[in-house]
Amino acid sequence: ARLPAIAPPLIDWQVRHGRNHLPWQHTQDPYRVWLSEIMLQQTQVTTVLDYYQRFIQALPDVASLAAAPADQVMALWSGLGYYSRARNLHRCAQAVMAEHGGQFPRNAATLASLPGIGRTTAAAIAAFCFQERAAILDANVKRVLTRVLAFSGDLAQAQQEKALWALAEQLLPEAGADMPRYTQALMDLGATVCTPRQPVCRQCPLQWQCRAQQAGNPQDYPVKTRK
Ligand code: ADE
Ligand code: SF4
Repeated sequence: ARLPAIAPPLIDWQVRHGRNHLPWQHTQDPYRVWLSEIMLQQTQVTTVLDYYQRFIQALPDVASLAAAPADQVMALWSGLGYYSRARNLHRCAQAVMAEHGGQFPRNAATLASLPGIGRTTAAAIAAFCFQERAAILDANVKRVLTRVLAFSGDLAQAQQEKALWALAEQLLPEAGADMPRYTQALMDLGATVCTPRQPVCRQCPLQWQCRAQQAGNPQDYPVKTRK
């Protein structure tokens, strides 16, 4: 079956109802976008705001982070938890300096080869900074897309997760100016409307396309058995 065209309504919704005033949205500096994405992986936006500003003030670019002592990096991270993120952050900055001439790679595939940068983080940086046509698929986006598509494959199975990645890529808009807002729209919709327990479908820009909403069972997605 043909896939629904979700990009236009998502982009339109993001302009009106998405989050558009976060400090890392006013820059295309990959250092700042990368730092924010790593912080946001396991920490809420309200908490990240303070840490992000302090971090950028102390270490404003990748060269200063790479050259900083490990204990300064850990002190700036202290309170955010998941400290392997801070160690990988430091290692990643050093790899950018040593292996990429001090410039972040400008495509998702190369970004994903760096320490601590997974496929979704790489795609987010590439979409936000370089307008690359690259798909994200974090927990929020998995929930949105499995519901819209009524994708009932078990995401505990690698083959099913791979199939969902392929669908996420087919749903993308063209490379270019729509990519940052589309990417932000998926993140924002999953965080504020298509929530785990009680999605607010009547406020959702995808309600007319969403197969789970039409079947009345959004709560049945995503399917993920424990192994
Ligand atoms: N979570 C992960 N990335 C984010 C972003 N760019 N904005 C808001 N929440 C996020
Ligand atoms: Fe999620 Fe409901 Fe929107 Fe479907 S219609 S994407 S279930 S909020």
